[in-house]
Amino acid sequence: MIGVFDSGFGGLTILKEIRRQLPGYDYLYLGDNARTPYGTRSFDVVYEYTLQAIRYLFSHGCHLVVLACNTASAKALRTIQQNDLPDMVPVFADGKPQKRVLGIIRPTVEAIGGLTKTGHVGVLATQGTVVSESYPIEIRKINAAVTVTQQACPMWVPIVENCEADSPGADYFVDKYLTQILARDPEIDTLLLACTHYPLLQAKIEQSLMRLLPEGHRPVALLSQGAIVAESLKDYLNRHPELESKCSKGGSCRYLTTESEHKFAQSASIFMEEEIEVKHIDL
Ligand code: DGL
Repeated sequence: MIGVFDSGFGGLTILKEIRRQLPGYDYLYLGDNARTPYGTRSFDVVYEYTLQAIRYLFSHGCHLVVLACNTASAKALRTIQQNDLPDMVPVFADGKPQKRVLGIIRPTVEAIGGLTKTGHVGVLATQGTVVSESYPIEIRKINAAVTVTQQACPMWVPIVENCEADSPGADYFVDKYLTQILARDPEIDTLLLACTHYPLLQAKIEQSLMRLLPEGHRPVALLSQGAIVAESLKDYLNRHPELESKCSKGGSCRYLTTESEHKFAQSASIFMEEEIEVKHIDL
């Protein structure tokens, strides 16, 4: 199976697009809903939680795990790839690990490049992703001329996790963070939703931009990661036949949560637009 991991519901926005583009594989989604949000936690805690999830997915039939979580990708991916993987999994004859973990920041950054016309990009993310500076660092590696302004949106994940994304109360916090980032750089023409939970607030974000931008203002494009990550995974599987051949192909999708099965199934089945089978686990 291909494992897809997030701190909670956010990774479903990535999984949905992966399944749309790569329907033939079997998937195992793990949401650590009991310990969400990750975005306000320290480096060590996010690293520890992410490692536990990867160990679980590896030992339950996954050869490839996608970290469908920017916070985990920013804070834990590199250490896990460099320090933990070599001790955790056997290697192929060429010395490469037989199981792999993929993050979502690099493919996202590679896709941003040509999209901005003003050269000003806004990054909306969790506190953890913002403080890691991963996006500005990676974007500058590809195009040093792009101005990156980051905005932490700490209330957005709790709103999504508590199923309040459609409530009128969500408008206040959506307006609040968008007002702040647009005031800090009015030339932004591309806003990246750099947290996988945020596409679940996309309708609110679009409405808020319409309210906040003055008439005649240049349009501000919203960029979410689902399609980008799916495209990049497809490419990765094409380039790594040794791993691709280990991924089973039955078109199934199973779900695991560290919270209540009932709560997860209720919310996730609405978003995935199908009945889902979910099992509670402890990490
Ligand atoms: N959805 C995750 C991300 O992309 C984490 C959100 C959180 O748990 O704070 O950053």
